[in-house]
Amino acid sequence: MKVAVVTGANKGLGFGIVRGLCKRFDGDVILTARNESRGKEAIQTLEKEGLHPKFHQLDITDHDSIVRLRDYLQNTYQGLDVLVNNAAIAYQFNGSVAPPYPEEVREVCHTNYFSVVDVCQVLFPLLRPHARVCNVSSVSCHESFYGCSTVVQNRIKNAMHTIEDVNQLIRDFVEAAQKDQAEKFGFDRFPYGMSKVGISLMSAIQQKTFDQTGAEDIIVNCCDVGAGGWVATDMTNHYGVSVDKGALNPLFCALLPPNVDGPKGKFLYDEEEYDWWNLDLTQVPGGFTETQYQ
Ligand SMILES: NC(=O)c1ccc[n+]([C@@H]2O[C@H](COP(=O)([O-])OP(=O)(O)OC[C@H]3O[C@@H](n4cnc5c(N)ncnc54)[C@H](OP(=O)(O)O)[C@@H]3O)[C@@H](O)[C@H]2O)c1
Repeated sequence: MKVAVVTGANKGLGFGIVRGLCKRFDGDVILTARNESRGKEAIQTLEKEGLHPKFHQLDITDHDSIVRLRDYLQNTYQGLDVLVNNAAIAYQFNGSVAPPYPEEVREVCHTNYFSVVDVCQVLFPLLRPHARVCNVSSVSCHESFYGCSTVVQNRIKNAMHTIEDVNQLIRDFVEAAQKDQAEKFGFDRFPYGMSKVGISLMSAIQQKTFDQTGAEDIIVNCCDVGAGGWVATDMTNHYGVSVDKGALNPLFCALLPPNVDGPKGKFLYDEEEYDWWNLDLTQVPGGFTETQYQ
């Protein structure tokens, strides 16, 4: 039996991705959530729609929780076919009160970047031939790239060869932010965007590593939601398109058919590949509606 896992799926985009996978993926779909009762409530909602995802607890910031999920997948399915790294946090868009800046940077980078690296390290050994990994990024990575100095931009473009290189980049940003000196060290100030810089860089390196080690048709991509850049979730204070529409681009990555030529290791927006640092936001299909957001 094939199996797909979506992180942070009790609500928002992750919930929409699970709904889409239940309809389109030929196998079991595991809805994961850090909070068991919120996760089980989401399962009940989908059950009422005639869909049958399974639940497993997963807090991506808790290594033991990731290991418990790995053991469950190993024992029940002996592998993994689709992994959607969707879970993330942000303070900027939903009006919630952020902790003091240094703490915010630590928390956002820990959840949105380092914990995703950990999930991948623990779960990747389970990936079977033809597995698909979708790392949910954001066009915010493009904005943060342009918020960095030329020196840091060149580092991002030319010196990111291994996951450890990316880890060090994000660690350097977190360290600078602890002294409120992100800009002095050439980083963009915005932790959410910087964490997504990490995700986008990581995805390309993961694909390169799979290719170099002869993995059989394992594909990793990262993506924005597309659809104008905003999906109506708690994260955006419910500004944007529906979670089902926002889920289309992640679903495209997660459901790429066997043995396709590509996209591989790319950043996808509305099912099209972009160099995320060269992204022209006025040219992407459907436009990018940042200015409409109040
Ligand atoms: N909405 C947009 O317009 C938009 C645009 C671009 C990219 N994205 C990306 O899309 C993804 C989903 O965002 P969203 O808009 O759906 O946000 P959301 O409504 O706030 O949902 C975030 C989900 O992640 C979960 N989560 C947070 N920390 C977690 C942890 N430590 N372990 C496990 N789950 C955790 C949350 O669980 P709780 O309910 O327990 O908090 C929730 O289920 C994120 O990667 C985000 O960066 C969203």
